[in-house]
Amino acid sequence: MKITTEIDKMQIFSRIIKKDNKSIGFVPTMGYLHDGHVSLIKNARKQNDIVVLSIFVNPLQFGPNEDYERYPRDIARDEEIAKKEGVDVVFYPKYEDMYPEGFSTYVEVPELSKNLCGISRIGHFKGVTTVCAKLFEIVKPDIAYFGQKDAQQAIIIKKMIEDLNMNIIMKILPVVREKDGLVMSSRNVNLNDKERKDAAALYQSMKKAEELYKNGERNTDKIVDAVSSLIREKETAKIDYIKIVDLNTLKDLDRIKEKALLALAVFIGKTRLIDNIALGAEDVWS
Ligand code: PAJ
Repeated sequence: MKITTEIDKMQIFSRIIKKDNKSIGFVPTMGYLHDGHVSLIKNARKQNDIVVLSIFVNPLQFGPNEDYERYPRDIARDEEIAKKEGVDVVFYPKYEDMYPEGFSTYVEVPELSKNLCGISRIGHFKGVTTVCAKLFEIVKPDIAYFGQKDAQQAIIIKKMIEDLNMNIIMKILPVVREKDGLVMSSRNVNLNDKERKDAAALYQSMKKAEELYKNGERNTDKIVDAVSSLIREKETAKIDYIKIVDLNTLKDLDRIKEKALLALAVFIGKTRLIDNIALGAEDVWS
């Protein structure tokens, strides 16, 4: 397994791979890998000749009062996992190379970034699309792998790929969860025991929403009320948002007609967790 922090080395490597007509599967991450990331890597491994994993905690997507400093990092452990999963290249760029002084070009998908996490995390998605556009340009993947866990992010990146005619197939893979349903996240390590227990309410509340939906409930206020009352029972939980939106436009819905997304963001103690579930269709992500 190659490990490089150099942008030009990564570019040269990709150019050679392309010349050999080999495919590149790319998994962009911020590291502190868990089984959610591993499922993306495993898919990339199966479907490509070469697998590139990037690890870069992207400061551009963190707001001034967010957890950039506190974001967990452990490159040695990540390298071990990457090696075990058969990754060919770990690309681990340096901050000063990604954003040298004078850096001033941004990529934005404003319409899809307005709702949900875009309300409380101003500039977050602009940071995500900008770094992904840069990483795509450097790595030149044939297929890029993302998780449904960050549904809004995936929908925005898909739109960027389409709008900018990036020649990349995007695969969006299912959410990987802990035994009690908590979505796997690098941030879970910041939860104390009580918070960790309370955090399971997020998934339980979404299962309740699914049950209501399956029993015929289509009024989004009623479903959201049921979800929020279950989460409010937990002492350490503070709701940022719970919404049901159209899966294509990400606009709020009053009633569910087709392809809806129930998405939520909840602070458990100081840790902001997000989760989501699609309502109305099984194959919405394919
Ligand atoms: P990060 O949070 O490290 O996630 C990297 C990828 O793993 C994302 O596509 C995310 O949706 C996916 N992922 C994370 N947890 C998952 C889980 N439990 N199940 C399935 N997939 C999961 O998302 C980012 O990094 C960054 O915003 C990035 C795209 C790398 C840009 O900086």
